[in-house]
Amino acid sequence: MIRHLLSAADLDAGTATEVLDTAARMDEAIADREVKKLPTLRGRTVVNLFYEDSTRTRISFEAAAKRLSADVINFSAKGSSVSKGESLKDTALTLQAMGADAVVIRHPASGAPYQLAGWVNGSVLNAGDGTHEHPTQALLDAYTMRSRLGRVDGLSVAIVGDVLHSRVARSNVLLLSALGAKVTLVGPPTLLPLGIEDALASGTEVRYDLDEVLPGVDVVMMLRVQRERMEDAYFPSAREYTRRYGLDGARLRALPEHAIVMHPGPMNRGMEISPEVADSPRSTIVEQVANGVSVRMAVLYLLLGGAK
Ligand code: ASP
Ligand code: CP
Repeated sequence: MIRHLLSAADLDAGTATEVLDTAARMDEAIADREVKKLPTLRGRTVVNLFYEDSTRTRISFEAAAKRLSADVINFSAKGSSVSKGESLKDTALTLQAMGADAVVIRHPASGAPYQLAGWVNGSVLNAGDGTHEHPTQALLDAYTMRSRLGRVDGLSVAIVGDVLHSRVARSNVLLLSALGAKVTLVGPPTLLPLGIEDALASGTEVRYDLDEVLPGVDVVMMLRVQRERMEDAYFPSAREYTRRYGLDGARLRALPEHAIVMHPGPMNRGMEISPEVADSPRSTIVEQVANGVSVRMAVLYLLLGGAK
């Protein structure tokens, strides 16, 4: 098993499948127990180091570590000595002194987890770095596809919207392609990185018309329009964006009957996804959050080499 999880590219098909299988076993093991805890990481310390806001990733890493009986230290940059100018390196060395076996990091700078991996002895898990990657999100998305549709290999997956700013899209393209899915990126040209077609794994497509793509997909993954990362106007108006790229009831009905709708959250309800779609039985949004705990348990377990 690898020591750090910094990018979805760290996972070949075999390793990714091992994570998904382990997550399924974690689910079974927990379901059978009255007390939802396993003793596997007893005596180990997991530090959650969050320099950027998070709801799902932060609480699910905490829940995952606690379900494995690890000690958990939650560090949020807000309210810490970061406001006094303390650097990432000095913060990391302080955490190292507390005996961290694993550090989970979310940071606004792409590449921050790579730097951290050079400063601490424990495993580093990337929980989202800038616009770069979010590998555990891709794993939980693949896990959700597998549990809803029975497989990832051979699925046709459309990832729609603000691809330019999306670390979720980047990690999913890498992981889903490795697992044999066909990925199509859909969005306005302004929100698709320049030259993306050349940079993509072979077989990945880029399309600009959502309505043409929908009837042929098994999975449609909607991305949040990340306004906090936008300095310019990338589309004429929110209304125009929704008209061309929003998933509403009419577009939901254009999907094949078995197809599922995903979104990593948080959602801009009414913009990239309508409330009718978000709350429909074909939406896996709430399941994705629950699956995030199982997948993060599996990753912590495999990286820290927990006892059986
Ligand atoms: N929560 C995801 C992320 O942190 C997606 C998003 O924020 O839109 O990358
Ligand atoms: N999907 C996701 O990463 O959500 P948070 O930003 O709330 O952690």
